[in-house]
Amino acid sequence: MTTRAATDFAARLDQTADDTEAVLGHLLGDGLLADEIARPKRLMEAMRYSSLGGGKRLRPFLVVESAAVFGVSRDAALLAGAALECIHCYSLIHDDLPAMDDSDLRRGRPTLHKATDDATAILAGDALLTLAFDIITRDEIHQDPNVRLLLTRALARASGIGGMVGGQMLDLAGEGRFGDREPVDVARLQQMKTGALLRFGCIAGALLGQASPDQYRALDDYGRALGEAFQIADDLLDVEGDAASLGKPAGADAALGKTTFVTQLGLAGAKQRVSDLIGTADAALSIFGAKGDVLRAAARFVAERKN
Ligand code: IPE
Ligand code: IPE
Ligand code: MG
Ligand code: MG
Ligand code: MG
Repeated sequence: MTTRAATDFAARLDQTADDTEAVLGHLLGDGLLADEIARPKRLMEAMRYSSLGGGKRLRPFLVVESAAVFGVSRDAALLAGAALECIHCYSLIHDDLPAMDDSDLRRGRPTLHKATDDATAILAGDALLTLAFDIITRDEIHQDPNVRLLLTRALARASGIGGMVGGQMLDLAGEGRFGDREPVDVARLQQMKTGALLRFGCIAGALLGQASPDQYRALDDYGRALGEAFQIADDLLDVEGDAASLGKPAGADAALGKTTFVTQLGLAGAKQRVSDLIGTADAALSIFGAKGDVLRAAARFVAERKN
């Protein structure tokens, strides 16, 4: 990736990662907010361990760049992106627990439950989840409370039953660990466990920017395609990558008996599906013209990423 758009993309992703780090660092400080009684040291350290100093920050980037299409304030978008990143970090902490994927390595470091203990990891995840909703409802997100309400509801739906949590349940069921051996609808599973949060990142910009129905639909279509492509790329990396570059174990899906597009379509079939989805994501952005270029580069990044 050496084109001008690609260099531009990399610089913008770095900048948003740095800005997100700063916003999260502030939100996870020791200072008490109104109505808080205390911030227990062990809890705060665990939350900081799993939220700061790592991660691509792709989800905040999608919020910032989809919001930029509409000229939304960067600070407001960064705050909404930080809320989304809190949900993502919580999902990773719980995903790695012994009761779920039982993973020892995350973002190149021991997983939180390895560095601390299961109870601390569960509670840090819980607290990141609730912090996300504290953040997304704040006045600084948008002056119109109705916009904040729509964002909050969208974040709840992306995170919960019909989104990430529901998808995680289907993922575990797909391993056959609850005894049900029904065929797995991998597309649906992935739309839920991973796609929903990435899609939220894209529609968040449309909500913040009070987009027209056509513009909202375009970002929705883009986000759905990107989200599915992202998880297939993750499943491909689990087969073809190595722990040193991934910062998390490779080969974990096969060891757990996960059903993925790689197991269903083979490596070549899964790669073809990623490239078809990137085409769909690209096409969805056509109504934005050149304003969609950074999001187009993000779709290529998702397909080509190595970690
Ligand atoms: C990992 O997400 C979990 C999946 C949804 C596949 P990322 O690959 O975005 O993880 P970080 O945030 O960069 O560590
Ligand atoms: C995780 O999918 C998705 C969520 C955390 C919701 P994976 O289990 O494939 O993610 P990694 O590979 O552990 O990052
Ligand atoms: Mg998992
Ligand atoms: Mg996992
Ligand atoms: Mg994975």
